Amino acid sequence: NKRVKVKDLLASEATGQEVIVMGWVRTFRNNQFIALNDGSTNNNLQIVVELGMLDENTLKRITTGASLKVTGEAVPSLGKGQKVEIKAKSLEILGDSDAEKYPLQPKKHSLEFLREIAHLRFRTNTFGAVFRVRHALAFAIHKFYNEKGFVYMHTPIVTASDAEGAGEMFRVTTLPFDNPPRNEDGSINFKEDFFGRSTNLTVSGQLEGELAAMAFSEVYTFGPTFRAENSNTARHLAEFWMIEPEMAFYDLEDNMNLAEEFIKYIIRYAMEHNREDLEFLAQRLAEEEKQLPQDKRSEMGLIEKLEFVINNNFERITYTEAIDILLNSPAYKKKKFQYEVKWGIDMQSEHERYLVEKHFKKPVIVTGYPKEIKAFYMRQNDDGKTVAAMDILAPGIGEIVGGSQREERLEKLTERMKEMHIPVEEMWWYLDTRRFGSVPHAGFGLGFERMVLFVTGMTNIRDVIAFPRTPKNAEF
Ligand code: 4AD
Ligand code: MG
Repeated sequence: NKRVKVKDLLASEATGQEVIVMGWVRTFRNNQFIALNDGSTNNNLQIVVELGMLDENTLKRITTGASLKVTGEAVPSLGKGQKVEIKAKSLEILGDSDAEKYPLQPKKHSLEFLREIAHLRFRTNTFGAVFRVRHALAFAIHKFYNEKGFVYMHTPIVTASDAEGAGEMFRVTTLPFDNPPRNEDGSINFKEDFFGRSTNLTVSGQLEGELAAMAFSEVYTFGPTFRAENSNTARHLAEFWMIEPEMAFYDLEDNMNLAEEFIKYIIRYAMEHNREDLEFLAQRLAEEEKQLPQDKRSEMGLIEKLEFVINNNFERITYTEAIDILLNSPAYKKKKFQYEVKWGIDMQSEHERYLVEKHFKKPVIVTGYPKEIKAFYMRQNDDGKTVAAMDILAPGIGEIVGGSQREERLEKLTERMKEMHIPVEEMWWYLDTRRFGSVPHAGFGLGFERMVLFVTGMTNIRDVIAFPRTPKNAEF
C-alpha cells in the first residue's frame, strides 16, 4: 500500500514518485483542481485531473464531502503555499456526497450551526485544528507523567461514593424502568440501584488516586468525570475529562510547583508539534475578536499569550490577599461586580477573571481558601479557618485547576467528615490509608476541556469536546 498522508506528502516535498492518497473533497474547481483533505492537516492537497481523463458522470460525482482514492504522481506545484501536488493517473470515488444535501458548504459556518452537526464538524478547518491540538495535549500529558515516573491509574466510572461530597451525581441504576422496587411510601427504592447498592457516575478519581499514591508514591488518572449540575455556561460540561495527579510526600508548595511545570510542559509540547494548527486558531480568534468592542478584545494574540504563559511564573497569592485585591479594585468601587465580595465567599467567575485578566494579567495560583467552601479531604491549616487548597485561575477561563494538600491526620479528617455529613462508616476504605502508614500527600485536578479552551483560544467548551454533554446536548 503506497497510501501517504497529506501532511507527510506536503512536508516531504519529494516529487517524482507514484503515490496513493485518500480523503474527502473540500472543493473542485474548473473540472480540474480538487482540494483533498484527509484530516492530517488543514492544508489541502491539490489533485490535478487532466482534461479528458474522467468521463462526465465521474466528474459530476466529485462534490464537496465525497471520498476519493487517487493514484498519481507527486509533482512540483505552481500553486502558492504548496510545493507538491498530485497529477492524477486514476481516480476512484469511494463514497458519494449529495451536494444538495451535504450540510457543509465550502464557506464559513458559524460555530453555533456546527454544534448542531457535531457528527460532521470534524471536517472543518476549525475543528480539524482543535481536535489535533486536543490530541497533542492528551499525548503530552501522558508523556509528562511518564517521564517523571508516575503510574497511570484507571479509576472506576461507576462508584458508590461522592468524591467531592457535593451531591452532584448522576445515578447509575439497574432497576427496571417500568416496574422499579418501591419503598413503603411508594417512592422508588434507589438503594437497590446496582444489584443492591446505590451507585452513581464518578465526579472525580481522586479518592482512588489517593489509595494508589499510598503505594506507588506518584500516580495520575486521566479519565471522564461527571457532574449533574444544571449549569448552562461556556465553561461547564456534565461530562468532562480530568487529569488528577496524586503524590505522596508532597506538600502544598510541591503541588503548586508540579501543576505549574505540568501546564507549561503541555502548552510547550503543543506549540512545538502543532504550530500550524495553533497559528490557524490564532487567526480564527483574531477574526472573531474583530466583532467585539475594543475593550473586550484580548491584549495578546493566541500565540503571544501561550508564549507569555510558558515563559513567566504564575502569580501566587492567598485567598485573603485575593479578597483584598477585589475589595480595593476599581471594579468593586464602581459596583461592577454582580456578586458580593467579602471574606468567605466562593469566588465567582467574574472575580476570578478580574484577578487574572485585569489585575495580574497572567495565571494566578490562589491558596488558603476558607474551609467552609472546600471539600472535606483538604488539609486544615493551623488558623482553624482555612485549608491548604490551591486553585489555578487562567486568563479567559477562570478556574482551570483545583487541588490541595490532603488531610492525612485520621482524627482531624474524621472530625471534618462528620461536620460535613460525609458518611464516615461507608468510607472506611478511604480512612484506612490514614490508619496504615499515612503520609503527607497532595494532588490536583486539571479540567482537560478548560485546558484545551485555553490553548486553542476557543471560547465555548462545547467546541473543544467532540460530543458535549450539557443539559441541552445529549442526542449523539
Ligand atoms: O475543583 P474540582 O471540582 O476538583 C476536583 O474534582 C478534585 N477532586 C481534584 C483533585 O484535587 N484531584 O475540579 C477540578 C477541575 C476544575 O478546576 C475545572 O477545571 C474542572 O475540573 N471542572 C470542570 N470542567 C468542565 N465542566 C465542569 N462541570 C467542571 N467541573 C470542574
Ligand atoms: Mg474547584
